[in-house]
Amino acid sequence: GRVAVFMGGDSAERAVSLKSGQAVLSALQSAGVDAFGIDVRGCLLKTVEAPEYDRVFIALHGRGGEDGTLQAILGQAGIPYTGSEVLASALAMDKLRSKYVFQGCGLPTPAFRAMTSAAEADEIIRSLGTPLSVKAAHEGSSIGIFKVHNVEELAEAYRKAAEIDDLVLVEQWIEGPEFTVSLLQDKALPAIGLSTDHTFYDYDAKYLADDTRYRIPCGLAPDDEVRLQHLALDAFRVLGCRTWGRVDIMQDADGEFWLLEANTVPGMTDHSLVPMAAKAAGISFEELVVRILKDTLP
Ligand code: DAL
Ligand code: MG
Repeated sequence: GRVAVFMGGDSAERAVSLKSGQAVLSALQSAGVDAFGIDVRGCLLKTVEAPEYDRVFIALHGRGGEDGTLQAILGQAGIPYTGSEVLASALAMDKLRSKYVFQGCGLPTPAFRAMTSAAEADEIIRSLGTPLSVKAAHEGSSIGIFKVHNVEELAEAYRKAAEIDDLVLVEQWIEGPEFTVSLLQDKALPAIGLSTDHTFYDYDAKYLADDTRYRIPCGLAPDDEVRLQHLALDAFRVLGCRTWGRVDIMQDADGEFWLLEANTVPGMTDHSLVPMAAKAAGISFEELVVRILKDTLP
């Protein structure tokens, strides 16, 4: 049947999603799949009215497309789609509640709390220390993330994050290195180690900079990489994620790993990590998208 690649959308990650979607679409077409793209804007319900497709490859990042909303609508319409279902998509999109689940399941995640007003800055620093990471809870691509060192910076970062999200979380800053583990058909691909001269792996380091360094093999001892991969799989499992995704993890100076978050529709641009990990496992981009799509078949 025909496959629609949903891309674009109205979230802050629209530009990234258009690139992911184009890359996915070209790869599906060159693999001989009857596929076309749809830029999903405005009311999501309209996209499932009289659909001219049988399955959907979701290449939307962020709110609306990655957070369970679209997944619920496609589910209601009986249209199979790639990736995680409603609950896991919604949970993974919410960095705060993902951490409640990690914590509840005994998985390591940096100490954290929700922040509901700038006036809490003083008390938060007394309980969590510094530096801290302030995060808009429902964004991706590092949008709305700030590193802060004192009460004034925390209050200011809170105001900025609260402008773009009604939920803000604060967590202890782990210096890193950062690792990411891609999951395909519920198995872990080789981990990637990330380093950047930016303060952290932010939006520019992700998509614009040419000096971001990706280590694959990731540089960990084999046993440690296996431990890292298991942690990623555990995170994926406790959130209820399905088929493919990517889990971001920090390592502290003592070698311990700390879960940051899971991504249920990770980037598929030419700068993106899942394609890089797949390639290291001998899986071409074309094969990667075909495998993700195959999981929508009964
Ligand atoms: N949110 C971006 C697309 C990622 O996780 O790759
Ligand atoms: Mg994310």
